Amino acid sequence: MRTRIALVLLALFLMAGNALAKDVVFAVDATYPPMEMIDADKNIVGFGPEVVVAMGKAGGFNPILKNTAWDGIFAGLASGKYDAIASSVSITDERKQNMDFSDPYFEVKQGVIVPKGSGIASVADLAGKTVASQMGTTGYFLCKKIEGATAKSYDEIGLAVEDLYNGRIDAVIADDAVASNYALQHEQYSQKLTLAFLIAPESPEYLGFAVNKGNKEIVDLINSSLAAIKASGEYDKIYAKWFGA
Ligand code: ARG
Repeated sequence: MRTRIALVLLALFLMAGNALAKDVVFAVDATYPPMEMIDADKNIVGFGPEVVVAMGKAGGFNPILKNTAWDGIFAGLASGKYDAIASSVSITDERKQNMDFSDPYFEVKQGVIVPKGSGIASVADLAGKTVASQMGTTGYFLCKKIEGATAKSYDEIGLAVEDLYNGRIDAVIADDAVASNYALQHEQYSQKLTLAFLIAPESPEYLGFAVNKGNKEIVDLINSSLAAIKASGEYDKIYAKWFGA
């Protein structure tokens, strides 16, 4: 009898939970500190996840973060494995042909990390060098455009930085928030590496949450909850926590 009551209560509880909050699944390539990463307890943390969690509270939805490799992350969205991507995705015209984006939630420039004392101080200095980034990112597209440089791609930006640290490549390009985290803040890497310069700082990239083309329901939910946390000051709090005021 008691078990039956317990089961009925459990069922009611689950139904109420579902009715209260809609699940929205976000794919996160959590290899991109401090934007999105895994902490010591294997939780997905970082600036992006915190923004998403705050948006869920403000917008009355239940965000589910799904750790997903960057390679294939767009294909997974198209095949319906999740509702959105929260992985520091730069809003580009090419990507807009295949997916829709929320309003921007962050601005980045591409930063170039080099070994201290390398003498590399401009794009021209990268000629003849091996320049790397994470595959299929805007940073990697830049690597391929640099005159005279050899572009190299890695599955994760951390692996590129590791190779740079070990002297196997000459430079790494990444979103500046991530580049400066490795080059200026990281306990080990910052001893040897530095952020040399930003490429085209006058034309920044804007990060958005990607959704499938025409998925107005999710994009509207994301945009209204993003606007809500900007208006309430919650967004600024999260920003200050990760990047300083
Ligand atoms: N902003 C860059 C782009 O969209 C890099 C994003 C990489 N994100 C990640 N979580 N690994 O191409």
